[in-house]
Amino acid sequence: MYDFYEAFYKVVEHSAAHAEFCRRVFGRNLCQHGFADMEQVDALIAALNLQPGDQVLELGCGNGMVAEYIADQTGAHITGVDYSPQGIEQAQRRTGGKREHLTFAVGDINTLELPAETYDAIISIDSIYFSNDYTRSVREWQAALRPGGKLTLFYAYGREPWVAKDDFPAENLAPERTPLAAALIANGLRFTTQNFTAQDHALAVRRTAVLDDLRPQFEAEGILFIWENRCGDAQGVRQAIEEGLHARYLYRSET
Ligand SMILES: C[S@@+](CC[C@H](N)C(=O)[O-])C[C@H]1O[C@@H](n2cnc3c(N)ncnc32)[C@H](O)[C@@H]1O
Repeated sequence: MYDFYEAFYKVVEHSAAHAEFCRRVFGRNLCQHGFADMEQVDALIAALNLQPGDQVLELGCGNGMVAEYIADQTGAHITGVDYSPQGIEQAQRRTGGKREHLTFAVGDINTLELPAETYDAIISIDSIYFSNDYTRSVREWQAALRPGGKLTLFYAYGREPWVAKDDFPAENLAPERTPLAAALIANGLRFTTQNFTAQDHALAVRRTAVLDDLRPQFEAEGILFIWENRCGDAQGVRQAIEEGLHARYLYRSET
């Protein structure tokens, strides 16, 4: 996926088609490659109750537009980390005038060396899938949070198109049974969840309709690889939810 994300962040910075796609699907162009629309981003902000000056770490921040929105809304300081140099370079260039609120660094979620007891919150939107070991990652994030710090993650779990229906463990769709839940429990963390599966389905349906509409613009810009990637995501999520084999949650945990 590394090469895909490098190519993705390189072209979307100047893509009118992708900006229009994000505006129409998510309500605002924050260059989303995750599945959170503005309702979900605002739910994340509400869950955090951030105060000006709070220190927040965002994992898998892409080109930092979501981090910038959260910093603008709350006055918190966000440190964004992503393994895409393209995404991080753009984030740094775009937010050069907001250094007191925004810092970005290239980093792999699997090899981060985080400072101990530093952050008031650690957040992630659709990026923890890239952790090779959820239990170890959660342990590292827990150690980087100040006492009382919050771990707040958007996470979806469901059947991938290449997995046979009968092979998918549907019993693990319950919020207390997902692989992320298992990692939180293994680290002794209690958590609450908000179910966003219905919203995820509605967004998948909307993504498909908007992509149908915008295909000529993506083609004219020579970026059909992004159109195809986004169509694949939307169709896969929609089908799995309709089968009852996909769920999306906001996980909230406090150290
Ligand atoms: C599905 S996108 C979500 C991006 C953004 N959070 C959003 O909601 O639009 C996943 C992000 O994780 C990043 N990523 C993938 N693997 C990673 C890794 N091993 N370490 C850090 N970031 C990674 C990608 O570059 C991409 O920005």
